[in-house]
Amino acid sequence: MKRVLVTGGAGFLGSHLCDALLARGDDVLCVDNFFTGQRENIAHLNGHKRFEFMRHDVTFPLYVEVDEIYNLACPASPVHYQFDPVQTTKTSVIGAINMLGLAKRTKAKILQASTSEVYGDPETHPQPESYWGKVNPIGPRSCYDEGKRCAETLFFDYRRQHHMPVKVVRIFNTYGPRMHPNDGRVVSNFIMQALSEKDITIYGDGRQTRSFCYVDDLIAGMIAMMDSPEPFVGPVNIGNPCEFSMLELAQKIVTQTKAKSQIKFEPLPTDDPRQRKPDITLAQKELHWQPTIALDEGLTKTIAYFKDLQTA
Ligand SMILES: NC(=O)c1ccc[n+]([C@@H]2O[C@H](COP(=O)([O-])OP(=O)(O)OC[C@H]3O[C@@H](n4cnc5c(N)ncnc54)[C@H](O)[C@@H]3O)[C@@H](O)[C@H]2O)c1
Repeated sequence: MKRVLVTGGAGFLGSHLCDALLARGDDVLCVDNFFTGQRENIAHLNGHKRFEFMRHDVTFPLYVEVDEIYNLACPASPVHYQFDPVQTTKTSVIGAINMLGLAKRTKAKILQASTSEVYGDPETHPQPESYWGKVNPIGPRSCYDEGKRCAETLFFDYRRQHHMPVKVVRIFNTYGPRMHPNDGRVVSNFIMQALSEKDITIYGDGRQTRSFCYVDDLIAGMIAMMDSPEPFVGPVNIGNPCEFSMLELAQKIVTQTKAKSQIKFEPLPTDDPRQRKPDITLAQKELHWQPTIALDEGLTKTIAYFKDLQTA
C-alpha cells in the first residue's frame, strides 16, 4: 500500500484526487489550510480507514512519512489568488520548497500541479509544452503565474541537483462538481447566474475562447503522470483541446438550465488571455491519456451539483 500526500486536498481538484487514490487502494494523507478548500469536499471521507486529514499551511515545513506527493496547495481562481497576492507567491514558491524538501528526505516521488497560466497570453495556439510563454511579471495575475513558473523551476532544479523523481503537469481549465460557487471562474459563474435567473456576465465580446476539461478526465491524467515511467518528468499539458467561445459556453448553460437569463457584456480584465487551448500530443504519446467527457455531458453533472448546493 502506498502512502500518498495530497496538499490542497480539501479543494476542488484535490478532493477528487483523494477519492480516486482511495478508490484504488492507496493510503491518503490530505493536507489543507482551508484557504479556499471546504470541509464539505472531504466530509464523505471522514471515518474512511485509509484517509487522514491534517490542517497545515504548506508555507511551513511538514514532517510526515510518505511515498508519493501531489502538490496542489494554491488558490487557483483570480478572485482568491489576488486576495492576498504575497501569500499566493509564498504558497507556490515556499510551499514547493517545503514539499520538495519533504520528498528529498523521504525519497518520495513528487508531482507539481502547474498551470496553463505559465503560458500567459500566448502567441502560439494551441500551446505545446515547448512554448515558454508570454507572462507579465508585474501585473495582478503575476503572483499566480510567476509563482507557478518559479515552482516549476524549483522542481527541475531539485531534479538536476538532487536527482529526484519529479513530475510536472500543466493543468488547463478544469470544471466539475465541488468547484467553489463564488470563485469567479467562468463555468461556475455562468451556472450560478443561470440558476438564479440573473444576467450572464461575459467579459469582452465573448469571442475569446477556452477549452474545458471535466474533472474526472483531469484526475485520470494526473494519476497517469505520477504512475508514468521515471524518465518522463514533463512538463505535460493535461486538458481538453475542444475549444469554445464564452458565448457558446453561456448559450449551452442557458439551454441546459432553461434559464431566462440575458447575456450582459463587461470590459475585459487586465491580462486576460484571449485564447487558451492545450496541445495534448505529449500526454497522448507518453501517458496514453486523452479526455473522454464532452462539454455537454460534464456540464450536466456540474449543473446538477450546483442545483443540489442551492437546495441544501
Ligand atoms: N481548476 C483548474 O482549472 C486549475 C487549472 C490550473 C491549475 N490548477 C492547479 O490545481 C491546484 C488545485 O486547484 P483547484 O482548482 O482545486 O483550487 P482550489 O482553490 O479549490 O484548491 C486549492 C486548495 O489548496 C488549499 N491551500 C491554499 N493555500 C494553501 C496553503 N498555504 N497551505 C495548505 N493548503 C493551501 C486551499 O485551501 C484549497 O483547498 C492548484 O495548485 C491550481 O493552481 C487548477
